[in-house]
Amino acid sequence: MKKTVLVSGGAGFIGSHVTVELVEAGYDVVVADNMSNCDMTCFEGVTKIIGRRLPFVQMDFCDMEAVNRLFEEYHIDAVIHFAAFKAVGESVEMPLLYYRNNLLSFINVLEAARTHGGCNVLFSSSATVYGEPEELPVTERSPRQPATSPYGNTKQMCEDFLRDAVKAYSEIKGIALRYFNPIGAHPSALIGELPRGVPNNLVPFITQTAIGKRECLSIFGNDYPTPDGTCLRDYIDIVDLAKAHVCAVSRMLDGRMKEPYEIFNVGTGRPVSVLELVTAFEKVNGLKLNYRFAPRRSGDVTAIWADPTLANEELGWKAERSVEDTLAAAWAWEKHLAGK
Ligand code: WQD
Repeated sequence: MKKTVLVSGGAGFIGSHVTVELVEAGYDVVVADNMSNCDMTCFEGVTKIIGRRLPFVQMDFCDMEAVNRLFEEYHIDAVIHFAAFKAVGESVEMPLLYYRNNLLSFINVLEAARTHGGCNVLFSSSATVYGEPEELPVTERSPRQPATSPYGNTKQMCEDFLRDAVKAYSEIKGIALRYFNPIGAHPSALIGELPRGVPNNLVPFITQTAIGKRECLSIFGNDYPTPDGTCLRDYIDIVDLAKAHVCAVSRMLDGRMKEPYEIFNVGTGRPVSVLELVTAFEKVNGLKLNYRFAPRRSGDVTAIWADPTLANEELGWKAERSVEDTLAAAWAWEKHLAGK
């Protein structure tokens, strides 16, 4: 029998790409989203890519009754939980909003997973839990650092909720995937990142500058102790990232987990500087980007990249796309949005 996967926050950037990969791997998928930070663009894009409309439930995971109704209506074998706020700066300004939304929604998912006959839970975590690492690359055993924002704190706390719930309730199994920097778009250019207002993240700012929506990219800091003075990150292609979810879900559903709670880094293992990323974008897309060097952005770590060995070996997953292909896809998506 086909297994059913619930994707909370499934209309967003990562959720929509994961939905496509799950369907292509043969899973039934139910998409749920409260649409608080996206419109139907990506869900419609998913419909076009897979050629049919998936069940879609507009609901808020902070509403326990709505979550229970969802679990009663569908037999959910696994849930991938994306539904959360994700802007670091905003979380500093509105910590209670972030704590209420991100923590309560996940508690509700865990409660429903426990009370509706058991369920596998995949939590969307972040490399932000490692803070400014003392040793690079970071492995899953690298220590977590105290969070520097409420957003980062919610990622750490939700990881702990999952660990503790799995320990207490044998009917729940859990995997946390720690993403590095997800970028890019689906090769169809039908789904991608849709930031509201001025983008916080680097690649949407680059593509919006290239299309003329922003005048100039500020590169935050060129005096870091790195080869070219700009920060180093592990940029992971969104389709590669989505495929890691399919590997993790099938590991849970096929009973291949070695522990009832597991953590995997999802990254490439390849550090890329901000300047290298900008240069690669210009080269692969044949254009010049207007940029300038600006002061450091507060809260940025100098360098972080993954040791993805555990995911490579245990999940049988490996990042495949080059940075160039990913940046070409990001640009194709920006042009698609502009109707060009
Ligand atoms: C990358 C690099 C910036 C914008 C954040 C979250 C993390 C995760 C992904 C969120 C940094 C530089 C950026 C710009 C720049 N989750 N930059 N000019 O900060 O590594 O990670 O996003 O959803 O938890 O912390 O990603 O894309 O913001 O920045 O120079 O206009 O690009 O300084 O070095 P970050 P980012």
